[in-house]
Amino acid sequence: MENTTQSNTITKVKWRCPSNIAIVKYWGKKPIQIPCNSSLSLTLSNSYTEVEAELTEKTTDQKVEMTYYFEGEISDLFGRKVAKYLEDNIESFPFLNDYAVTMRSMNSFPHSAGIASSASAFGAIALAVLDFSYAFANKERNDSFFQEASNLARLGSGSACRSIFPSYAMWGENDQIENSSNEKAIEVTDIHPNFQNMKDAILIVEDEPKKVSSTIGHGLMNNHPYAEARFNQANERTAKLVEILKSGDIESFIQLSESEALTLHAMMMTSSEYYLLVKPGTIQAIEKLMQFRLECLVPVCFTLDAGPNLHVLYPAKYAEKVEDFINNELTDTYKKVIFDHEGNGPTKLEA
Ligand code: PMV
Repeated sequence: MENTTQSNTITKVKWRCPSNIAIVKYWGKKPIQIPCNSSLSLTLSNSYTEVEAELTEKTTDQKVEMTYYFEGEISDLFGRKVAKYLEDNIESFPFLNDYAVTMRSMNSFPHSAGIASSASAFGAIALAVLDFSYAFANKERNDSFFQEASNLARLGSGSACRSIFPSYAMWGENDQIENSSNEKAIEVTDIHPNFQNMKDAILIVEDEPKKVSSTIGHGLMNNHPYAEARFNQANERTAKLVEILKSGDIESFIQLSESEALTLHAMMMTSSEYYLLVKPGTIQAIEKLMQFRLECLVPVCFTLDAGPNLHVLYPAKYAEKVEDFINNELTDTYKKVIFDHEGNGPTKLEA
């Protein structure tokens, strides 16, 4: 079986793409994957998806002939989502009219970690298929390759567009930020040393799949009573965060980060079909963390994704103190912890 596949291989590529954690949150979207507000995130390092994509001759007359493996097993559900994504965007991947594609993917984080993998997965998928397109067109991979990849990743999963860039990336048109775009993310490059090499300890409070998907959550912002105020606030905060990252103002970073996390969850709790994703462990860890910050004067703060897991953010120079605290004082609030940090963006690997 292995040999048959090998001998039919036309070409293969492999990409690794990290996940990211939003500090200013994207919550609410318009067709097609256009954000209702701008957002700004930290690109991670240890939490990533790898996708190996292989082209072979087509054996059917399907528009897109695709097989998707996740950690060695055929993944029908996600595979269908990826096939639809490729079909919808086939003008960017014209070679799929002639060739079949097999994707084999793996995540660095445990399957049940409760970490959203769609950002890293669609980042890696977009990079792999765009890499084929560039190779067929004899185009060199330069900066515009990553800009195009960011645009294509967005069409798979909005937040994925930010994972294409290292360190800090922002996405979404913002009057106060030059070159900002709804189609793709841009790197935020002017970063004070205080925010270089940020750490993110991800406390896995719950590893069950969440009850309400992000797609539904975005949809509930459509007729949300506070939508407009929220979108304006997020745009203001994105611009403010760019300034904070430049100036090194840690106090303001802490306030903004934590308020964003709580505002995101407040949107869920106040939508017409209200729901609650935080768990007792989340609240307990937040309270202990605030107490620790007050008593030990360590600049550490939290943020949340659309789930119960707490992301604990801190500058590298406080790693020992914060990690001791997490390992000794917070253990009854989480099931496991993943120590991650700011990363350099995607990498092409040997296929
Ligand atoms: O990219 P999506 O559709 O999975 O939405 C992500 C939404 C949040 O993670 C909650 C916020 C963000 O900006 O990443």
